Amino acid sequence: MKFFIDTANLDQIQQAKELGVLDGVTTNPSLMAKEGIKGDAAILAHYKKICQLVSGDVSAEVIGTDFATMVKEGKILADLAPNIVVKVPMTADGVKAICHFTSLGIRTNCTLIFSAGQAILAAKAGATYLSPFVGRLDDINWEGMQLIRDIADIYTIQGYETEILAASIRNSRHIVDAARSGADVVTCPLSAIMGLLDHPLTTMGLEKFLSDYNKSQA
Ligand code: G3P
Repeated sequence: MKFFIDTANLDQIQQAKELGVLDGVTTNPSLMAKEGIKGDAAILAHYKKICQLVSGDVSAEVIGTDFATMVKEGKILADLAPNIVVKVPMTADGVKAICHFTSLGIRTNCTLIFSAGQAILAAKAGATYLSPFVGRLDDINWEGMQLIRDIADIYTIQGYETEILAASIRNSRHIVDAARSGADVVTCPLSAIMGLLDHPLTTMGLEKFLSDYNKSQA
């Protein structure tokens, strides 16, 4: 399973990169706004900075909601760097745009996925990645991870090549469950990645090893 970081924060991307396990980055308009980036020129410049920081795929989302605007924006985004993946919402115009981008060889990430039916449509359109939002389903008392399992089963049965990118990941437990559920990629905040390191027995065990070593030096 590939690890993407779900942020537009350059410091956090750098920290995940230094850990050595980072395969890519996902962003969305909310994450860009959180970084205080204002205006289209600044947004495009920020995507370029992210693409220079990481060699893996970087998802950059279109803002337009009609086919023509999505296509126009997607081409501008795809021209920024070879590792840009154009993120497109799951709407009728979005599916049309993904089909169009597929025919042009532009890679896509179909976002805002909340059902297996939507996942089938995105795969038929040729999306490179599919982003089911696990945490937001949990928020409304659905079992978000069940959607990952359902899509993984369907994609295996049908032989779809679209990669399942588990999104809206809120904690380290979600990462473990996504791996068990058949996700190809997980995109998560830095805190969830770093949380995988933690176990009290590891901390206690290390303290004991170091104290025993120090005793042997006395
Ligand atoms: O990038 C999309 C997704 O990961 C959003 O997560 O926490 O805002 O539901 P969240």
